[in-house]
Amino acid sequence: MKTILETERLTLREFTPSDVDDLSLVLCDRENMRFYPNPFERSHVERWIEWSRDLYQRDGFRLWAMRLKDEHQVIGDCGLILQDVDGLTEVEIGYHLRRDRQGRGLATEAARACCDFALGSLGEANRDLAHPARERSVTPSGPAKRNDHRKRDAV
Ligand SMILES: CC(C)(COP(=O)(O)OP(=O)(O)OC[C@H]1O[C@@H](n2cnc3c(N)ncnc32)[C@H](O)[C@@H]1OP(=O)(O)O)[C@@H](O)C(=O)NCCC(=O)NCCS
Repeated sequence: MKTILETERLTLREFTPSDVDDLSLVLCDRENMRFYPNPFERSHVERWIEWSRDLYQRDGFRLWAMRLKDEHQVIGDCGLILQDVDGLTEVEIGYHLRRDRQGRGLATEAARACCDFALGSLGEANRDLAHPARERSVTPSGPAKRNDHRKRDAV
């Protein structure tokens, strides 16, 4: 398992196929997924993890598994997603957290670390690459906005 980021309370690491049960508690939850067309089915979560692992290889990032340092279970995800915004590929911070862990500032803490990663390592790694996401910026929303990270140029 590849650990990507650590914060005071959290570890963010790459997902593995064995995370499907933990992640299903987050993404198959009807209330949690009320802004999506439907909550995920377990098979969707399996494909979603496979897809994430492909994108780790291709881009070096996507949503990562979020775990409290003092617990073994994965309680959600947080990471970076490429989104098409008006024809421009942008990097967005995404997050989903198990309902019984919400409201404790965990998404804010994880999003802050992901934003720093995007503005630091990711920017360095992509500085000289001809990538469709060459002109990237971080688009804050929800907890990311609370971190007061504003849209920036060419990450
Ligand atoms: C969004 C989510 C990850 C936030 O997790 P969290 O750890 O509870 O967030 P935090 O405790 O860091 O809260 C940060 C701020 O965001 C606010 N917030 C939390 N969920 C929110 C939501 N669904 N809409 C708007 N604001 C929200 C909180 O009220 C808090 O603001 P405050 O400090 O001014 O009160 C969690 O609610 C979740 O998993 N939601 C379902 C999935 C989802 O909608 N993901 C985002 C879009 S893909």
